[in-house]
Amino acid sequence: MGDKATTDMAIEGELALQTLAMPKDTNANGDIFGGWLVSQMDLAAGIMSKQVTQGRSATVAIQNVNFIKPVSVGATVSCYCRVTKTGNSSVHIAVDVWVSHRLTHQDSVKVAEGLFVFVALDDDGKPRPIPKVNEA
Ligand SMILES: CC(C)(COP(=O)(O)OP(=O)(O)OC[C@H]1O[C@@H](n2cnc3c(N)ncnc32)[C@H](O)[C@@H]1OP(=O)(O)O)[C@@H](O)C(=O)NCCC(=O)NCCS
Repeated sequence: MGDKATTDMAIEGELALQTLAMPKDTNANGDIFGGWLVSQMDLAAGIMSKQVTQGRSATVAIQNVNFIKPVSVGATVSCYCRVTKTGNSSVHIAVDVWVSHRLTHQDSVKVAEGLFVFVALDDDGKPRPIPKVNEA
């Protein structure tokens, strides 16, 4: 995805995870390693999945991950999540990653996006129905 698609985008979703990009998370070029970023996205989606599924769940698929811009050491990394679909036992969670180098976050830039599919699991690790909101 090029710059055109990310122009004028606003932050969508709920802030599920915020962390700092550290030197240990860099790739051979000195930028932040994509695998680390995906790990943060998976954690963020997992936090939202826990709320939605009201219990144990696991990532069953990671789809359409795009790395839009490089991330530098010292950036504040914020993962915003939103549920895009809820099935019987699965929930689709879109994750957008924005980074900022200032306290105000006025310079925030979207650097990555992806769709994470989680499945609610029972005690035996088998899919279980996601409780309906009014059953909570
Ligand atoms: C999650 C797991 C129990 C699902 O088992 P399964 O036999 O595929 O279960 P089902 O076929 O009944 O599918 C369960 C749900 O997941 C969805 N699903 C399964 N595989 C999927 C995939 N690759 N992409 C999107 N959705 C998927 C199904 O559509 C179904 O959704 P629904 O109940 O809302 O209709 C099993 O795949 C598993 O244990 N995977 C490992 C999970 C894990 O350890 N993740 C951590 C990363 S290592």
